[in-house]
Amino acid sequence: MNITVKELYSKFQTLSNQSVEISGWVRNNRAQKEFGFIDLNDGTYFETIQVVYEESKLDNFKETQKIRVGSSVKVSGKLILTPNLKQPFEIKADEVILIGDSLENYPIQPKRHSKEFLRENAHLRMRTNLFSAVFRVRNVVSYVIHRFFQERNFIYFHAPIVTGSDAEGAGEMFKVTTTNYEDLLKNNIKEVDWSKDFFGKATNLTVSGQLQAEAYALAFRNVYTFGPTFRAENSNTQRHASEFWMVEPEVAFCDLKQDMEIAESMVKYVISSVLDECPKEMEFFDQFVEKGLKTKLEKVVSSKFQSVTHHDAIQVLLDSNQPFENKPMFGEDLATEHEKYLTKHFDGPVFVIDWPKEIKAFYMRLNDDQKTVAAMDLLVPGAGELIGGSQREERLEVLESRMKEMNVAKEELWWYLDLRKYGGCPHAGFGLGLERMVMYVTGVDNIRDVIPFPRTPKNCEF
Ligand code: 4AD
Ligand code: MG
Repeated sequence: MNITVKELYSKFQTLSNQSVEISGWVRNNRAQKEFGFIDLNDGTYFETIQVVYEESKLDNFKETQKIRVGSSVKVSGKLILTPNLKQPFEIKADEVILIGDSLENYPIQPKRHSKEFLRENAHLRMRTNLFSAVFRVRNVVSYVIHRFFQERNFIYFHAPIVTGSDAEGAGEMFKVTTTNYEDLLKNNIKEVDWSKDFFGKATNLTVSGQLQAEAYALAFRNVYTFGPTFRAENSNTQRHASEFWMVEPEVAFCDLKQDMEIAESMVKYVISSVLDECPKEMEFFDQFVEKGLKTKLEKVVSSKFQSVTHHDAIQVLLDSNQPFENKPMFGEDLATEHEKYLTKHFDGPVFVIDWPKEIKAFYMRLNDDQKTVAAMDLLVPGAGELIGGSQREERLEVLESRMKEMNVAKEELWWYLDLRKYGGCPHAGFGLGLERMVMYVTGVDNIRDVIPFPRTPKNCEF
């Protein structure tokens, strides 16, 4: 019977003294004179299994002693309960077969490696405890986000990856083109005629599926998109990637307050699901990545998120008398150091709402004061801005005048304006950066370490 390590851990008690067969990779091989120990991991479970092999039992004992770290092997043997040892059971090998050898220079040796070194070996780093835990949690976070929305009858739709518009109006887009720039240069052509390009117009990778989500919300009421998004912003920080995944729910007949309620329950749902479903991984993060992580997250789940207007948040910062590098200003964005201070001040996640209209996107609903928009950013300790969302401007004239003010061309967004002409209604939504959520629940502080193969400025290896 070939069985996975995960299955073994769930039913080892019923398999005492029985023969089992497992396949996996050698994490460590400690050979003694007449016996030895192999730590075997097959990727299905965070833990390894200890395989004990003896000279008296194996024909190939000498070869087994030499099996190197990283090799793949097949082991048959008897499961023995070991209630007095750290691991509850071990396998006494009858047979050890080397399937794929691993060379002497295998980079992932059983010792501490720096995160930088492991980033350079992103094709192998999932074989370490840290990264196996991170990517297992990333899997669960993705799955339970779907579950959260599906349980609430949200329709999952797929927003396009290639678009002709700039959803955020920030100009941080990667061009998509079949135009051959080298040919243009050779022929001394100084201007590109986009009408001759593949789509007959200038196109780019999407920065957000929101605008299309709005169209879907105005037909299905509750929808979400969950996919890759791309930003050509040249920010080399621990929290920015050029390619990241975003979850964007959009809800018709919904205002900012209800939008925030959905965001809060989603974040709490994700955290409690991960605590429930990844106990081994969370224990590991709590011990080795961020001390007190579990207690912190449990508190987040059980307390109400606070909220503060942008104006009052700036006041808190000014009153704090902290030596900030960037002076907090009423009409301006928050710097990382400000976000840090605010999450400390409010002792947990905090919504900053009602932002100055000049520094937010064109689609956000103008408040009655005519100065602020119905926007919310959810700030959390560590990951910073976890969520950005807003109530959308549903009034055609107001939207048109906001687009004009912010230099957003109307032509490309004719269909978006149509949504205000044919049965428009108050609606709202938000975007959660998947990677920032994974950082928050694992305590890992660099976004490059929660993305399988990260893309950041000047880096597109693998
Ligand atoms: O605040 P942002 O830019 O909002 C939007 O894109 C809206 N269209 C969302 C909506 O209302 N439907 O991005 C949303 C979230 C941020 O809060 C952050 O978590 C994440 O996406 N994010 C990034 N994550 C990693 N790297 C980057 N460069 C990111 N930019 C945004
Ligand atoms: Mg934002």
